[in-house]
Amino acid sequence: MNVFNSSQSWVDEFSDPIRPLGMVPTMGALHQGHMTLIERALKENNTVLVTIFINPTQFNDKTDLERYPQDLDADIKKIEQFRGNIFVYTPAVEDVYGNNITAKSFNLGGLDEPMEGVKRKNHFHGVATVVSYFLEIFQPNRAYFGEKDFQQLRVIEQLSKALALNTKIIGCPIIREPDGLAMSSRNQLLGVEDRKKAPMIFQLLQLLKAQSALLSYRALREIVHDFFKKNDSLKLDYFVICDPKTLQEIDFKQSPGTGRAFIAVYLGKIRLIDNLDMS
Ligand code: PAJ
Repeated sequence: MNVFNSSQSWVDEFSDPIRPLGMVPTMGALHQGHMTLIERALKENNTVLVTIFINPTQFNDKTDLERYPQDLDADIKKIEQFRGNIFVYTPAVEDVYGNNITAKSFNLGGLDEPMEGVKRKNHFHGVATVVSYFLEIFQPNRAYFGEKDFQQLRVIEQLSKALALNTKIIGCPIIREPDGLAMSSRNQLLGVEDRKKAPMIFQLLQLLKAQSALLSYRALREIVHDFFKKNDSLKLDYFVICDPKTLQEIDFKQSPGTGRAFIAVYLGKIRLIDNLDMS
């Protein structure tokens, strides 16, 4: 395993890896969700590049950035357990941004606008800034992203199209804790009581899926609102069912069909997101 922290050292020393090259961008605090992406990349490529970088321009909330979990030594140890040809890029902010820490503007085809786009202004332009930087420098043959951040996956597919990059974007299923909670670096910020309640988010999505052949989207929304009235220690940020390709909300009168449900919930100050295919 090779750990490096400047893009120049890639250019100078490693720029001709044994291809195909698979890239797994992360913000660290690695858990099984990340590890599954790395494992898949190792299966499908001769060389894998993992990036660990907490990208400041995608955080619209300063305290969210400040409390984002960070443990580089533990992350490196976790990656060391894999066999294979692995590079780990752990840049400082200056290596990526120089002294201009701002998001660039991209054509994201409107996929950045709903859901997280409404709640986290400019978030996806921040994500696109750092991901396009990685794609352009490393030119991976494949890049791996989780469906946990389904909207991000769609945005990056659009970004790759808009920039006419040769990287294949690969979406991977959500990895969950045994109790159903979608794995997330933010889970470790939950207090004991909130952690106990957090699996209710996925339970609710599963309940909606079970009802989705019989009920309209409007009726499912009512179930969601009743649920949050009864469980007032969880606060709903948004719930929508969208077409998985366009991310446009489906008609209230329709049943979800092949739609995908998206939810964001606050447990105390910690905001968790999840999603589930309704078909
Ligand atoms: P991060 O939240 O660290 O996630 C890195 C990758 O792991 C993303 O593609 C995310 O969708 C995936 N992932 C996280 N939890 C997962 C889970 N439970 N199951 C499956 N995949 C999961 O997403 C980011 O970082 C950043 O926005 C980044 C793309 C690195 C740009 O800064």
